[in-house]
Formats: sequence, C-alpha cells, structure tokens
Amino acid sequence: MLQHKNIVLGVSGGIAAYKACALTSKLTQAGANVQVIMTKNATEFVSPLTFQALSRNPVYTDTFDEKDFKKIAHIDVADWADIFVIAPATANILAKMANGIADDMLTTALLATLADIYIAPAMNVNMYSHPAVKHNMQLLADRGCHFIEPGAGYLACGWIGKGRLEEPESIVDAISRHQQKKQIWSGKKVLISAGPTREKIDPVRFFTNRSSGKMGFSLAKEAAQMGAEVTLVAGPVSQETKDKKIRRIDVETAEEMNQAMQREFPIQDIVIKAAAVADYRPKIVYNQKMKKKPGELRIEMERTTDILQQLGEKKENQFLVGFAAETADPLAYGKEKLKKKHLDAIVVNNIAVDGAGFEKDTNIVTYINKNMEETEIPLATKAEVANQILSLIDRDMKDELN
Ligand code: CTP
Repeated sequence: MLQHKNIVLGVSGGIAAYKACALTSKLTQAGANVQVIMTKNATEFVSPLTFQALSRNPVYTDTFDEKDFKKIAHIDVADWADIFVIAPATANILAKMANGIADDMLTTALLATLADIYIAPAMNVNMYSHPAVKHNMQLLADRGCHFIEPGAGYLACGWIGKGRLEEPESIVDAISRHQQKKQIWSGKKVLISAGPTREKIDPVRFFTNRSSGKMGFSLAKEAAQMGAEVTLVAGPVSQETKDKKIRRIDVETAEEMNQAMQREFPIQDIVIKAAAVADYRPKIVYNQKMKKKPGELRIEMERTTDILQQLGEKKENQFLVGFAAETADPLAYGKEKLKKKHLDAIVVNNIAVDGAGFEKDTNIVTYINKNMEETEIPLATKAEVANQILSLIDRDMKDELN
C-alpha cells in the first residue's frame, strides 16, 4: 500500500525519537519515498544525519534554511506529501497542531498540507491522560487526523503505563491498513438516513422519539473513511458532521425525509435507513398554539409514508439496508421486515437490552442478509458496530457479483 507514496515523517522532541529512525527505515523498505522534518528539540535526541542516511533525502530542521531558491521549502514539502506521519508526537506538538500554531518547519508544513495525517503520540502516562492533551487529540481527530495509539508498558521516565510510542512495524501496518480501507468504497455513492423525525402538532409542540442519530452518523463517518461519497439525510439531532466527504441534508418531518430520500435514491449504490421515522403524524397541524380546555384531548393521527418500503419497491441495483428497533422477538420481526420491504439486509436492534439502542454510545445488533444468514455484532461502540456493518455489506455486495 505504501509503494511509491510520498511520506513526510515529522519527528518531535521526545526520547522515542530514536524509534523514528527504525520507522524511517521500515517506510523506505515498504517502497515509500520518505522526507524527514525534525523539530529543534528532536535534534537534541537524534542527529539529522541519521535520518538523512536512512531516508536518502535531506532533512528539514529550519523553516528559513531554503535549500532551493526556486521553491518555498515548507510549501513544497507540504504539497509533495501524500501522507504525513508525526512520530513521536509530543504533548507540545499536539497542542501546536490543535491550535494552528506554525512556529517551525514541521508545524508550518502541517498547516499547509492536504495529505492524510497520522499521529503516533509518545509521552509520560500522566501527560497522556491530561485533559488538555486529551482535548487536543479529540480536536485533531475531529478534524480528520488519524491516531496510532501508544502502547502500555515501561516508560523511559520510569513510570509504567500508556505512553510508549507504538512499534515502528505496527505504525507502518496501521498506516497501510488505513490506506487500504480508504479505497474499498472509492467511487461508490452511499445514502444514509439518521436520527428521529418531528411531527408537528402546533408551532411549539411535536411528536418525536428517542433516536439520537449516533448510529447513522457513525455509519456515515465510516463509509466516508472507506472512500465513499456519502449523503446523510439527518432528522433533528445535535450531532455534528465534520468529514468533508459527507454531504448533509437536514430534515425535520417524515415527509421531508421521504422527499430527500426519494430524490437522492436513484444515483446511489448503497442505501442505509438507520433513521427512526415516525409512523404517524397529527392529521391536523394547528397554526396557532393550542390552548388547553377542560376535559380530555384527542389528537387524530394519520400514517406517514413508509420510506423504506417505497425504496424497496422501486430499487434497481442499489444495495438496500434497513434497521429494525424491537423490544420483543427482534430476529423474527427483523426477518419479516427484510422480506416485506424487499431489502438486501437488515440490522436488528434489541433496544430492551443493556448497552443497545437509542441515545447510547454503544450498540448490540444482529445483521441479517437476504439469505437469512445472521451475524451477531456483540457490544461495541457505535463506531465499531458501524465498521462491522459496512464490512458485512461489502461482503454481501461482492457475493452478489460472484
Ligand atoms: N421506516 C421508514 N419509514 C417509516 C417507518 C420506518 O423508512 N415511516 C424504516 C426505518 O428507517 C427502518 C425500518 O423502516 O429502517 C424499520 O423501522 P421500524 O420502526 O423498526 O419498523 P416499522 O416498519 O415502522 O414497523 P413497526 O412499527 O411495525 O415495528
């Protein structure tokens, strides 16, 4: 995966800088072209000459040391890179990156690059768990940087815990695997619906449900990471979409979701309906706030469109996946919906089980395909569950082609 890739290795000033030498060597052995940028502090640990010999390229340490007057070095190297790896990444470089500080060659090039950025932190265990460091890492992850977590064990500072730079082989493996994953659905179009819908009663009241949209948003994020062009039709949720590859369409009612899904459907390759759509809406929507009156209130409800059913009936080559949230007999109901709605697969969610369902960060689901093969996905974060669901979809799509 790394053959002929242009990789910039950024080395910041921590004792693990010595491991970056082995990393340079592993990256060049994997066929990559490697250029190294060192921070001034990194040069206190390892000589630039070591990296120059291992990468067979000049090493950058100073923004103003312009080796070629025809080029502006930090922009040139930023544009050249397909991949940027920061290893080891100290707490200081994480803070600078998170805040957009550009006060040396490495941080300046990092601001200018459009390359994929991988960060392998290494520091003392207490520094690693400091809220400021955690916050900076979260900011960078939200912006699309990929973290290669440090291992746990004996640290150079004498502490035992998490903070040891991941081994060079594992860093190379992680980057290769991620680069491979990025291509799996490249060129594919994926449409996902997420969140609840709101069905108005009057200007201040509505019917809704407990869906947070987390599962659908995780699916959208994972699909984008697999290289797909993602359209996300989202009901009213507080989730943010940070990935530039996700086109988000916000809707409120079941009917608005229906319109958006029908409009986007024809050009898609994969459609996943993770939204919890209202089955009923008030028959009359009042323009003015309803005033209370003595006695009971009855609100007459009418059916909304079953969006998934309609998509199932008109689908051509799209791989169509539904969700089923059930509190009893989930597999039987799931299979029934799979057949009735002409789906290629259904993800069944037993929302009565601890760790599964609405508002939570975790889920437990069973994926059932058209051949009624069941695959259980045990308790995991919604991101991990999303990852597994998309792998199963990929498997079934490939099986259909064979
Ligand atoms: N769905 C939909 N449009 C609706 C209702 C549901 O597209 N008006 C989709 C959901 O997005 C989900 C699937 O249908 O992918 C199953 O939703 P669920 O609420 O579990 O089932 P229903 O079909 O509504 O059936 P029931 O209410 O009988 O459980």
